[in-house]
Amino acid sequence: MRPEELRAFLAKQNDKSLLRFLTCGSVDDGKSTLIGRLLFDTKLVFEDQLRALERDSKKHGTTGDDMDFALLLDGLEAEREQGITIDVAYRFFATEKRKYIVADTPGHEQYTRNMATGASNSDLAVILVDARKGVLTQTRRHAYICSLLRIRHVVLAVNKIDLVDFSEDIFDAIDGEFRDFADKLGFASIVSIPMSARFGDNVIERSSRIRWYDGPALLTHLDTVDVDTDRRGRAFRMPVQWVNRPNLDFRGFAGTVASGRVRAGDPIVVANSGRTSTVSRIVTMDGDLAEAAAGEAVTLTLADEVDISRGDVLSTPSARPDVADQFAAHLLWMAEEELLPGRQYLIKIGAKTVPASVTELKHRIDVNSLEHMAAKTLQLNEVGFCNFSTATPIAFDAYADNPETGGFVVIDRFTNGTVGAGMIEFGLRRATNVHWQALDVNKSARAGLKNQKPVILWFTGLSGSGKSTVANIVERKLLFGGQHTYMLDGDNVRHGLNRDLGFTDADRVENIRRVAETAKLFVDAGLIVLVSFISPFRSERRSARELVQPDEFLEVFIDTPIEVCMARDPKGLYKRAKAGEIKNFTGIDSPYEAPEAPEIHVKTVDMTAEDAADQIVARLRAAKIVP
Ligand code: ADX
Repeated sequence: MRPEELRAFLAKQNDKSLLRFLTCGSVDDGKSTLIGRLLFDTKLVFEDQLRALERDSKKHGTTGDDMDFALLLDGLEAEREQGITIDVAYRFFATEKRKYIVADTPGHEQYTRNMATGASNSDLAVILVDARKGVLTQTRRHAYICSLLRIRHVVLAVNKIDLVDFSEDIFDAIDGEFRDFADKLGFASIVSIPMSARFGDNVIERSSRIRWYDGPALLTHLDTVDVDTDRRGRAFRMPVQWVNRPNLDFRGFAGTVASGRVRAGDPIVVANSGRTSTVSRIVTMDGDLAEAAAGEAVTLTLADEVDISRGDVLSTPSARPDVADQFAAHLLWMAEEELLPGRQYLIKIGAKTVPASVTELKHRIDVNSLEHMAAKTLQLNEVGFCNFSTATPIAFDAYADNPETGGFVVIDRFTNGTVGAGMIEFGLRRATNVHWQALDVNKSARAGLKNQKPVILWFTGLSGSGKSTVANIVERKLLFGGQHTYMLDGDNVRHGLNRDLGFTDADRVENIRRVAETAKLFVDAGLIVLVSFISPFRSERRSARELVQPDEFLEVFIDTPIEVCMARDPKGLYKRAKAGEIKNFTGIDSPYEAPEAPEIHVKTVDMTAEDAADQIVARLRAAKIVP
């Protein structure tokens, strides 16, 4: 294609509106056939050609036309960055009226994750059913997840209608059953179409073989469905990706307009701080713009010196996002490892990443019956409704009002992989009338009186490793030296504060969370706190560490090989665990994640408990925690 042809072609494409849609169903339902037909019969653009075009447009420096390709590639890169294994193919085609991006997601078990990925930004979903099989469990799941992701329009493609003799009765029955379910889900439109993808009936054009049907063919519907109440109509939001300060005279805030539009001269507010200013310039590589709309990457300069950093959300003062550190959200779990309420994850919302945890899993949603079920965790592909708490306040909108600023991903702090996708329902104003009380007597005053520095000695190790034995001797030695101590021991605390907890991963996370908070209070009381818990997960030990100052936490790894613990078996628990009488026993059928860099590493096979205790006390003296 010659440059001028390319330019003309792209210019024409730019004038068309874009419809992003998703196909749900399995190969058996005829999904690939349908997509193939749409791509082939519209005969306009194929992916390879598109790639070639993209290369060409770069080579020929066709400016301003890159938008289509960016749209196409955008989502994908963000997902790859987050380490999602996506199984979604994006395809591109166009008609005289519109251009299309189709997200093709496989229909097997991983459906939730793939759908959530493919569906982000989709305007419409085509849900396929086989006319011979009718509405299946998976059909209902697909519809529910689409509604959760706020896809507004649904097409029920009743495929293989030729195999049921083009029966109107069968079509009506399927249509009725689907609507019974989907009507509750709040879609803006539901259109059912009898179809034979294989022979092209009602795909591109109305079929003469299905005379009783008087609705549109699929492509006609796609060409005309009204999806233009889009992102650009929403309130202005722009998460700041980075602050551009090449020299003292220029300070710009770079990002992609997430929704709405912005013009030079518009008033803006920084959502988090509430500081206001006015847009002076909208700067781009190709010069200043008078106006920028959703999807455009720009740099804004402001009339005033306002403190803004990466992750802040610039917005219109007349419709501000919510700012809170607690919110309720639907959560779609995407990891093999279950969700653990109380564990600290990271959430990424807009350009901001903050530590956050699920403080309460209110219920799990059965996606077949829409029933709310009691649950303590979420497994792969399950959907729950949860309360979240973030380390610092974040700016957000309800997902229903603005998917761009109401959707977030949950990231594992150790693997950096994406483990969940969330949709915020509403902010929670919790106890905003409770303030920090200023106290006259503080931690250092309390500790000073005791002639020591407060610290947590966090003993971790397998059951029977000798944690409590060593911790006991340490405490005795400190007491003889005139120090003030307190001991928190797993077995004991589980009789009181944590008596409601068992040994599932979720319960252990909560066990350690409570103990860490308690230890923090004792540190504040100026004490040397000995914590002796298996505490098998790195993640929770790290969270405990982060509750106090860096020099107030010493991790003591009581390193005893499991064979030795088993041989000792002081409580006879290993024997019972091996006999299958105790479930989830650490080291047997529940994991222990050894510390990677403990401050104190005690290898008990080489030394006596007494020597181990001496090693620890010596360390406390060296660090001037005790005299
Ligand atoms: S933790 O994993 O949540 O940190 P914690 O230290 O409180 O465990 O409790 C461990 C103690 O509970 C063990 O020393 C043992 O006496 C007892 N116990 C009973 N059942 C189990 C189990 N399934 N796994 C580990 N310890 C158990």
